[in-house]
Amino acid sequence: METSEEETVARTYEVRTDGRPVIEKNRPVPAPAAGEVLVRVKASSLNARDLPIVSGRYSRPVPPGRVPLSDGAGIVEAVGAGVSRFRAGDRVTSSFHPSWLYGSLDGWDELYGVQLDGWLTEYIAVGEQSLVPVPEHLSFEEAATLPCAALTAWSALSGVGPGDTVLLQGSGGVSIFALQFARVAGARVLVTTSSAGKAQRLRALGASDVIDYAGTPEWGARVRQLTGGHGADLVVEIGGAGTIAQSITALAQGGRISLVGNLADGDGMDLTQFLNRGATLRTVTVGSRSDFERMNRVISRHRLRPVVDRVFPFAEAPDAFTYFATGTHFGKVVIRH
Ligand SMILES: NC(=O)c1ccc[n+]([C@@H]2O[C@H](COP(=O)([O-])OP(=O)(O)OC[C@H]3O[C@@H](n4cnc5c(N)ncnc54)[C@H](OP(=O)(O)O)[C@@H]3O)[C@@H](O)[C@H]2O)c1
Repeated sequence: METSEEETVARTYEVRTDGRPVIEKNRPVPAPAAGEVLVRVKASSLNARDLPIVSGRYSRPVPPGRVPLSDGAGIVEAVGAGVSRFRAGDRVTSSFHPSWLYGSLDGWDELYGVQLDGWLTEYIAVGEQSLVPVPEHLSFEEAATLPCAALTAWSALSGVGPGDTVLLQGSGGVSIFALQFARVAGARVLVTTSSAGKAQRLRALGASDVIDYAGTPEWGARVRQLTGGHGADLVVEIGGAGTIAQSITALAQGGRISLVGNLADGDGMDLTQFLNRGATLRTVTVGSRSDFERMNRVISRHRLRPVVDRVFPFAEAPDAFTYFATGTHFGKVVIRH
């Protein structure tokens, strides 16, 4: 059988260190080994971690030529020997932690874009256990937003139910998913943002109150005021050191903080106030495949659609990184392959 070059070559982006985020290269289409699935990638999405990865500022070493992005969705093109979970034509997404199926995470040595080549490519071969079926009502562009941001939001909100008050920070990928999931769970949601335009969109998605964190540096007290002195039962902490002191002020007695990000510089937290609140701090590390599958059941049942800010064509992938770095996005930035 004759095969054209188009069928054997996968256009792929690699990290580089000369100022531009990524460079396009041709790589051979991988053959799926036993237990592996070859995915034709149709879309990928960016997360905050991808900026330090492509600019040499990530907390772990990234070898030159690494393919970035943890989040992708596509079609199963072929399966290796012994594969039983998928067959050609199935629609699948990546898992952020490819080997974390359930229970507790036991390591950080399998990260796409760091130790493993990631999803900013036309074809990838991965273990069948690492893939998750795409909810039927979602497009590839929408599905590609789920593996990191959506699952992190899902894990961060664990235990939230009707009557709870949740405080979210900003309008990025994790926070917008958290807003959608918290509303489905019946919680009241307050959100902080730096942008008046984004505030309107947050209200349209169901936020009861939006606070301008730049104009109201004491936004923790404002949350208590807006909740009649009760405070937030759960804060999804995106800012970290620079925001956690205000988050503690915002907390209800016995409240919880899900520690997700560290986007804001600052001095940290007042432990005495934290102890007086009887509060709990819980760290979040995205989630397992089993968490992902449970989340997808809720996404399907409620026909939830991810908020996609902008879709870039594959040929303009470097521009997607540049745009993402401006921080003007609302929800997710996606690349169509
Ligand atoms: N632990 C985990 O498992 C996990 C998983 C995913 C992400 N993360 C971390 O979570 C954070 C968010 O990730 P992402 O992908 O959602 O990022 P993103 O899409 O880039 O969102 C960033 C948003 O955060 C908001 N923000 C920045 N500084 C803020 C501050 N001082 N106060 C309130 N909001 C602030 C801004 O919202 P406005 O424009 O509205 O002001 C900004 O748009 C990152 O630190 C990321 O590394 C952790």
